[in-house]
Amino acid sequence: MINKVSIIGAGRVGESTAQMLAVQKLAQQIVLIDLDEQYAKGVALDIQETAPVYNFDSRLVGSSDIASIKDSGIVIITAGMPRKPGMDRSDVLSVNLKIIDQIMDGVMQYAPDSFVIVVSNPVDVLTYYAYQKTGWPRNRIVGQAGILDSMRMSSFIADAVNFSINDVQAMVLGGHGDTMVPLPRLTTVSGVSIEQLLDKESIENIIKRTRDGGAEILNLKQKSSAYDAPGAAVTTMVEAIVHNKNRLLPCIGLLQGEYGKNDLAIGIPVVLNENGMDRIVELNLTKEEQQAFDQSAQVITELTDEIQTLL
Ligand code: 2OP
Repeated sequence: MINKVSIIGAGRVGESTAQMLAVQKLAQQIVLIDLDEQYAKGVALDIQETAPVYNFDSRLVGSSDIASIKDSGIVIITAGMPRKPGMDRSDVLSVNLKIIDQIMDGVMQYAPDSFVIVVSNPVDVLTYYAYQKTGWPRNRIVGQAGILDSMRMSSFIADAVNFSINDVQAMVLGGHGDTMVPLPRLTTVSGVSIEQLLDKESIENIIKRTRDGGAEILNLKQKSSAYDAPGAAVTTMVEAIVHNKNRLLPCIGLLQGEYGKNDLAIGIPVVLNENGMDRIVELNLTKEEQQAFDQSAQVITELTDEIQTLL
């Protein structure tokens, strides 16, 4: 068990993540950092008081002092402005970039050996910025998006084919946004490609709904973005690292030549284990899949190029 996991941002994604980490007994200490110290303490205490039901021994701490993350094994960054209905994830870039910039100063100072999981949006660009700012090896910084997008796609498929969700495996690459690249060819129900189980139109609808998955939740809730599914996705990553599981999962990692790209953070299949992002797995994409991936990479590159002007 990694001794200490810190979550920066005690908003809804931070809270949901902390609760699941505790319930799944993935950390002895879970620290929630928020600008609003009383709020962070309240969230921590509320979760702590679920321990008698879930039988966990994790200690939860709320604080506004970034020094409280000291010596964390994993730091999860969820802080930032969530988008409002009608906004694109990139619309929050300039605000969230400055927030991440400050947070990374604290992470470099107090948890210099940690693994960092970036969740704040636009997550591809902010993950890239975390690499750029720290200069850390790429295995120690990974962004969350593909697991969430795949969870959404799997849920829609299970509904459409009426088979157990346990048997559905979806693969979604690319950016966490409109150019996301769901791969039906590599999405299966117990090894059977969905292309054999669903007609073209149903697959197209599932792809579209997956791409718009975050907006669908936001439009329904109005008052908040998704947080339960994002929290579960982050917990999956923490579990893979803590239990050295060698899981093959779509995450945002820094490409250094893979998929024909350099110096770009984007969703690709990676192996997560005790080394963090142990390696990137290169798939043989079809021409159309590679084109969709290239287009997504282009959009992220354009946003990434704005970073210096925005700081
Ligand atoms: C989502 O897809 C907020 O980006 C997050 O729900």
